Amino acid sequence: MGPDGVASLERPLNRALYACVRGAIQDGSLAPSTRMPPQRDLAAELGLSRNTVMFAYEQLLAEGYLTARTGSGTFVADTAPERFLHAGVAATPHAGTSHATTAHATIAHAHAAAPMQGLSPRGQRLIANASASPTQWGAFMPGVPDLVRFPHRRYAQIAARLWRQPHPEWLSYSHGGGLPALREAVAAHLRVARSVRCDASQVLITEGIHQAIDLVVRMLGTPGETAWVEEPGYWGIRGVLEVSDIGMVPMPVDAEGMTLPASGDARFGYWRRPAPRFIFVTPSHQYPLGAVLTLKRRRELLEFARREGSWIVEDDYDSEFRFSGQPIPSLQGLEPDAPVIYIGTFSKTLYPGLRMGYMVLPPAIAPAFQTAHAELYRAGHLMTQATVAEFMQAGDYAAHIRRMRPLYARRRAILAGLIERYLGPGALHAHTSNAGLHLVMRLPDNADDVAVAARAGARGIMVRPLSRYYMGPSAERGLLLGYACVPEEAIAPAFQTLLECLLA
Ligand SMILES: Cc1ncc(COP(=O)(O)O)c(C=O)c1O
Repeated sequence: MGPDGVASLERPLNRALYACVRGAIQDGSLAPSTRMPPQRDLAAELGLSRNTVMFAYEQLLAEGYLTARTGSGTFVADTAPERFLHAGVAATPHAGTSHATTAHATIAHAHAAAPMQGLSPRGQRLIANASASPTQWGAFMPGVPDLVRFPHRRYAQIAARLWRQPHPEWLSYSHGGGLPALREAVAAHLRVARSVRCDASQVLITEGIHQAIDLVVRMLGTPGETAWVEEPGYWGIRGVLEVSDIGMVPMPVDAEGMTLPASGDARFGYWRRPAPRFIFVTPSHQYPLGAVLTLKRRRELLEFARREGSWIVEDDYDSEFRFSGQPIPSLQGLEPDAPVIYIGTFSKTLYPGLRMGYMVLPPAIAPAFQTAHAELYRAGHLMTQATVAEFMQAGDYAAHIRRMRPLYARRRAILAGLIERYLGPGALHAHTSNAGLHLVMRLPDNADDVAVAARAGARGIMVRPLSRYYMGPSAERGLLLGYACVPEEAIAPAFQTLLECLLA
């Protein structure tokens, strides 16, 4: 993506410089109060343009790693975000690092070690657009379930019993899409809870949705083809598509979910010929705004994909958590033989570090995918799969989801109530539905949501700026707030801090 030109060449370099200075601050090589070299000097020393250095400094200033003191220069902040969050864990700063010459040497050393130069263009694009947060826990980290309530004793009991007499095969590589018992359990769950049309032979156990998307694109895509992605949409898809050289066409989302262009529409030309190879969609709970894809759009999408030979990839990342009304059935199950690859994850229902998810494939391509999965990733983790299978078969999985649902519903209601009380009813995004692990708080169109998120991060509040979920310029401003991982009593104080960051 992105036209070749000076701006696109400079971006990876400023990201690389930003990353190496941030790394040096995080590991203590650059101690608090260290004076940073003037931008002009650093640019000359590293052979970079002034702009490159300026963008890197600006990002570090916005995120609170650096502070500027008028007239005296730029310094490493005393409360750089990670140090603030992990007090006591940060590395001890090296003695005597408070001279600009030391900062020079540290940055030059780190920069020389940064692998950016040798990266392929696609590797550079991936790093330049890296979006995963370095912190994954705390109020209001979007998308993270309550990890304290995970029934670890029960899980450990099952795991301990299996480990007392492990089946030797379970300690070896996996083949054929994963442990049959888990594939059976997943198929049974999806048929009942998500109305997915499947049996175990169509199920493939993955290391999460990212891996599933990677496999889909490698197996069915050819460089140069295009994919429709939701606008705004899940940033994680973009990285995978970037490295596969699949072009992305952002499809705006409205209150009915992803829009489809009608002929005569200005966007028609994007897909008229050739049609997109893939359509990535979150029909049950559009990510991040929350709309549900209407039945009419579902039918249109299926009809379009059948006609044009496109694959719909249904990302059903958090649909177990809907707090009112009926569960929204999957798109995959709406019609027999739908051109849909259904993907899901245990990241929200169990825990993200488990790195386990699943895909349901049409019968004609399932065996090829199962073979490819073993060829590409040398799959394994059968002991973990056996544990999860038993956890599901014994009813613990369904019970855990049942217990978490009202808990998350209450947390959501508390947070939504605070947003409405302090910022007015319009501040909750209009597409927001009563579901999932996060909600979207709107900010005025001229607000700098990236700066607000950086200020909040520096005070230990993790939020994501809505504008970062857009590929194009017509971004709405707002913040994604995850409530599922925040205990009830911690919601109001954390929100208070966030308000202070908003007003700062
Ligand atoms: C829409 C969406 N899809 C996929 C994922 C990632 O799933 P996994 O952890 O299985 O890779 C997330 C994580 O937040 C998500 O929000």
